[in-house]
Amino acid sequence: MAYDIALIPGDGIGQEVVAAARPVLDDAATDAGFSLDYERFDWGSERYLDEGAMMPDDGIDRLRDRDAILLGAVGHPDIPDHVTLRGLMLPIRKRFNQQVCRRPAVLYEGVESPLRGYGGGDIDLVVFRENTEGEYADVGGREHRGFDHEVAIQSAVFTRQGTEDVVRAAFEAATERDGKLTNVTKSNAQAYGMVLWDDVVAEVGEEYPDVEVERLLVDAASMDFVRRPDEFDVVVASNLFGDILTDLGAIVTGSMGLAPSANVNVEGDYPSMFEPVHGSAPDIVGQGVANPLATVLSGAMLFDHLGEEAAGERLRGAVADQLADGDAPRTPDLGGDAGTEAVVRDLRDRL
Ligand code: NAD
Ligand code: IPM
Ligand code: MN
Repeated sequence: MAYDIALIPGDGIGQEVVAAARPVLDDAATDAGFSLDYERFDWGSERYLDEGAMMPDDGIDRLRDRDAILLGAVGHPDIPDHVTLRGLMLPIRKRFNQQVCRRPAVLYEGVESPLRGYGGGDIDLVVFRENTEGEYADVGGREHRGFDHEVAIQSAVFTRQGTEDVVRAAFEAATERDGKLTNVTKSNAQAYGMVLWDDVVAEVGEEYPDVEVERLLVDAASMDFVRRPDEFDVVVASNLFGDILTDLGAIVTGSMGLAPSANVNVEGDYPSMFEPVHGSAPDIVGQGVANPLATVLSGAMLFDHLGEEAAGERLRGAVADQLADGDAPRTPDLGGDAGTEAVVRDLRDRL
């Protein structure tokens, strides 16, 4: 079996972590008896600087028939982020209706949390982030540019269907995990979209009587991600709130360099996309110290999505094994002094 995978390394350390993760994914695939046929797309900010566009006009069409997409990161210090992101990553999520973003945060054995008193296995949660609408709906405008009475409107859009898709995915995950779902909103202040959201959670929740539902406002949830992260199981949140909470989830479980994600097209009409939660990290680019494990773990989610769960488990096992080994190389974000390459070599040995 061969799968057709689009590789979009993108910008900054995105290129480093995708190049590093690729042989690891290949090893795991070969062991499991399948292979990955990649097509690599050099789309991103360099292309924008040369040709004025992040991807070609037919970019979306060229991705459409792939089995999955693996993306590194997008973002360049010399180009406004809204230009680069709205030129490449966000349109892929939207055009392929990747409405459900799944972002696990696991505190691995051997990894130090910045929170006192938490050790390996103590934190194991997953955030389901609505991924195509909400606060990221491209609806708004800007009038009277540069004048004192300039006004900008940025609207959030919540559809019943879009909300239901992510809420249902979260309930399903809760039934397979510890049966607990935390619904994060700001419905005390935002009386339209967030109240529709709460209504949908209540309605879908009736189909899952065994799932315990907790409601938290996003400000309190942010506090509780620090105060009691061990008590979360499945968290469901809107696009922006899910974005913010998943950086928090990443750091309380050790590092941005360990946090993977899946952007899932639930209907299966279009390819899903897998990418680390982190960005292009211009502060460390070119130093060879980017942690490749978030991308490797995103590859594991990609394998699960293809139905190759054994290979996914194998990758997660090798990562867990490496992190638990105090003598194994680790990158500076995890307190080590090893580079990306050393981490990959060690990981391949463990596979
Ligand atoms: P960032 O995630 O790139 O970096 C935040 C911090 O985490 C930095 O200190 C960085 O060095 C560290 N870090 C991130 N990934 C790491 C890794 N693999 N190993 C070690 N350290 C790591 O966030 P930012 O600085 O806010 O954003 C930089 C650029 O990336 C911006 O242009 C932003 O828009 C973009 N961005 C893109 C994505 C994406 O493509 N999915 C996600 C987030 C940010
Ligand atoms: C992420 C990123 C993106 C997002 C940005 C770069 C648009 O922060 O994937 O978490 O907010 O979705
Ligand atoms: Mn983010």
